[in-house]
Order: sequence, then structure tokens, then C-alpha cells
Amino acid sequence: MQRVVEIEKFTPETVYENSLRPTTWDEYIGQDKIKKNLKVFIEASKKRGEALDHTLFFGPPGLGKTTLANIISSQMDANIKTTAAPMIEKSGDLAAILTNIEEGDILFIDEIHRMSPAIEEILYPAMEDFRLDIIIGSGPAAQTVKIDLPRFTLIGATTRAGMLSNPLRDRFGMHFRMQFYTHEELAQIIHQASRRLNKYTSDEASNEIARRSRGTPRIALRLLRRVRDFAEVANEERISLSTTQYALNELGVDEQGFDEQDLKLMDLLITSKGRPLGLNTIGAVLSEDESTIEDVLEPYLIANGYIERTARGRVATQKAYEHFKLSFPQQQKMGGLFE
Ligand SMILES: Nc1ncnc2c1ncn2[C@@H]1O[C@H](COP(=O)(O)OP(=O)(O)O)[C@@H](O)[C@H]1O
Ligand SMILES: [Mg+2]
Repeated sequence: MQRVVEIEKFTPETVYENSLRPTTWDEYIGQDKIKKNLKVFIEASKKRGEALDHTLFFGPPGLGKTTLANIISSQMDANIKTTAAPMIEKSGDLAAILTNIEEGDILFIDEIHRMSPAIEEILYPAMEDFRLDIIIGSGPAAQTVKIDLPRFTLIGATTRAGMLSNPLRDRFGMHFRMQFYTHEELAQIIHQASRRLNKYTSDEASNEIARRSRGTPRIALRLLRRVRDFAEVANEERISLSTTQYALNELGVDEQGFDEQDLKLMDLLITSKGRPLGLNTIGAVLSEDESTIEDVLEPYLIANGYIERTARGRVATQKAYEHFKLSFPQQQKMGGLFE
């Protein structure tokens, strides 16, 4: 029997999210390449009776990394222990987790790029040789005790692969980069969720939410939750397009799904007239963490061609100017006045 151990905070948002989390491949929409590969690797390791190779998922928040870790564990019929790197403060914390692992278990470490170097050191032999090296005592009397660990699978998730140290990254046998979802895929996810919530959306309403969700299931589900409230108050049996549009406008989500921060960022880059801006400037003007800008804000705008990351900073592209119905400055077309 599969056992699920979660070490995480619960908020109304996470409870709602967990209740809609797919548990089977069929319910997990999109990411077809990742799904296809994982199915093969899972079947092969099950045939050999071995634990799955350590697996790393990277990509912006809300694209389904945690969900994949959980689907893998249920497909492998393995227990899953979930934690996040910032919660592992001392080497003893990790040692305690590792010594509680059983053969074939899955250890899911979220935000793995935030692991401290001292704790990474303990993880290396555990991942590579399934061995835990513990130092007992200090000074000349210090001794290293080696403990054999059962074969387990580490699944790591990170918003930023670039921040992972090379030795850690190299110890993962499989690396998967998450993709933003198409509107069609998001509409399917919304439809599936609305069925589970017992509050159906019309096809036009699902499409509208999908179009305005920044390619991200988590955002789509959050918007669905809010739109559902508006539909409830309007006594709608089935969520309509007009209520959806009204709700999304009230929530400040624009036609392309850009939220306030997206619009501010593009506006800032356009105002700088093609002069590339650094992260610190952007962070100061938007009152936003640099890491949030890099992990959450930029990836979608870059993936969709609204902004570009150059060696000297960020610039708005022609597409961004067009979004605001502005004409693209001539000097930028010619390679930039300020380059
Ligand atoms: N491919 C998918 N199909 C259906 N729902 C998904 C999919 N990916 C994510 N979700 C939903 O979106 C929410 C966020 O996914 P999650 O796995 O927590 O993202 P991440 O761990 O990458 O931040 C979850 O509630 C999950 O139900
Ligand atoms: Mg997650």
C-alpha cells in the first residue's frame, strides 16, 4: 500500500489545489514528451524491479512539477516523502529523512536550488552510492560513520536549473524541462477541474480562462475558482462567457492574460526606449524580488516573445510595443542605439 508523507504548509489555496491534482496519466494534460519518456522509464524500472533513476524537473511555478512527482510515485506504487530544501536546515534534518527511507521510496525535494552546500555534500553519496556519511564528534576525535541506505529515488524540482550546482545536477539521471501549456490544453484542464468541482463551465468560458492564464495550470485553476464565485452570485447553473469576462476584468487580468506586474514590466522597458534594463532596476521600480522577476515574471514573457534577455539587460520586443498599440522605435529595429 502506497504511503504519502507530506511535510508542507496548508493554506486554503493549497487545499483547493491538492483537491484538483491529477493522480493518473490520463488526467495529466499536456507535457506529452515528458509523459511519454517517463512512462517508458517507469515501465523499464518496474520490469527490472529497481528504483527509478533520480529525476529533476525544472521550470516556472505552477506547471505541474509536484503533480508529476506524485503521479510517478503512484505509478511506481512507491511511498513518497515530500519536503522542500529551505525546510532542511541542518545536516541532521536530512540524515533523519534519509534514515527513514525504505527500499523503493521516493523522496521529493522541492526548490532544490535552495539547498545549502553543506547539505548537498550529504546528498551526493546518498544519491550516488546510497550511503550516508555521518560525522560524529569533532576535532581530532571526529569519526565518520557510514550507513548503507536502501535504493530510493530522489525527485528534485526547481524553478531555476541554472542555480543548481553542477555536481548536484549531474547526479540526476533524468532532467525534464517543463513547457508552458497551450490554450487548448489549459481549456481541457479547466474543464476537468470544473467537472470535479461540480460547477461546469461553458466551452467559451473555459477557452476564455485558458487564454488568460499565462500558460500556467495553477493560474487557470485560481482564476476558475474566482470566476466560479462570480457565477455563484449571479445564480448561474453553468459558468457563462459573459460572467467569466466580467470576473477576469474585475480581477485585473487583461485580454492576453497579462497581470498587473507583466504590464508594468513591459511598460517600464518601453519607457526606457530600447535601453536594456538590469534586474536590480526592474526590481526597484516594480517593488518585486529579483528572484520573482526571474522565476515567475520573465519566463512567460520571454517564451512568448514579448521581452528579450540580452547581455546588457532586458528589452521590450516589437510584439510588446504592438500589445500597447505603439510603434516600434526605429533605432531598436536597427540593433539598438544603446548597444
Ligand atoms: N498537466 C496538468 N494537468 C492537469 N492539471 C495540472 C497539470 N499540471 C498542473 N496541474 C494543476 O496545477 C496545479 C499546480 O501544479 P503543481 O504540480 O503544484 O505545479 P508546480 O509544482 O510545478 O509548481 C495543481 O493543482 C495541479 O492540479
Ligand atoms: Mg510544486
